[in-house]
Amino acid sequence: MGHSSDTAFVLKDVSLFFGSVPILTDVNFAIRSTGITSIIGPSGSGKSTLLRTLNRLNDHHPTFRCTGSVRYRGTDIYANGNGSVDVARLRQDIGMLFQKPCLFPTSIYENVLFGLKRLKLRPRSEFPGIVETTLRAVFLWDEVKDRMKHPANELSQGQQQRLSLARALACEPEVLLLDEPTASLDPKSTQAIESLIRELGNRLTVILVTHRLEQAKRLSETVIFLSDGCVCEWGGVDDIFTCPSKEITQQYLAGHPP
Ligand SMILES: Nc1ncnc2c1ncn2[C@@H]1O[C@H](COP(=O)(O)OP(=O)(O)O)[C@@H](O)[C@H]1O
Ligand SMILES: [Mg+2]
Repeated sequence: MGHSSDTAFVLKDVSLFFGSVPILTDVNFAIRSTGITSIIGPSGSGKSTLLRTLNRLNDHHPTFRCTGSVRYRGTDIYANGNGSVDVARLRQDIGMLFQKPCLFPTSIYENVLFGLKRLKLRPRSEFPGIVETTLRAVFLWDEVKDRMKHPANELSQGQQQRLSLARALACEPEVLLLDEPTASLDPKSTQAIESLIRELGNRLTVILVTHRLEQAKRLSETVIFLSDGCVCEWGGVDDIFTCPSKEITQQYLAGHPP
């Protein structure tokens, strides 16, 4: 499979392990550069592990091992030797949002700039403008513009999650990995985050882990279904939800009525 510019990730014969325990085996799929892909499957099926493989976040676990090839824009991100990747750069290109908002014990303003300052991507003079632009992009500006110096933890969960997203966007990522980003939010905040995700999918690669099948249906074009240690199905959202090819997918979908 060659690299073409409309493909972000290509996984070929990928297996993931913690120690000697296989988590996922023989994973093969490609993800386009724009649009939203959902990863669904039972709890413990390896959704988070697979997602964290894409920006090498599992490297923090000493027993993690990945075989096969994970290519991002044509580069094997686990290759050793001369062409080995710059992991900091990779994580700049591939931003991530978790189930719980992940903020630092500092002000709203400093939280937006946290990643950007460390990357030294932009001169300081641009910081105020970047803060405003990204907070507007996540529809948080009007709610926080008069309390930039206040601690970020005084915000509601929904606001904190939007702030986490603003921080990721400030680093100008090409890809966003979202691990159950609305799991701890109320319906209104969920709606706000979902409309943001939809919009971001028009210009970025968005990969969404969700246990809410309705959310996968609403938001994504492509679905990857994990079960029993492998990718059980991979394809268009309508195909998978209306005529899954495997019995196990049917059973899983049937167990999660809308
Ligand atoms: N750091 C780790 N060390 C050992 N096993 C792990 C680690 N992280 C996850 N696992 C195991 O990998 C499997 C998949 O976990 P995970 O990717 O979190 O699943 P999901 O996100 O689908 O609920 C589970 O059996 C889990 O116990
Ligand atoms: Mg998980």
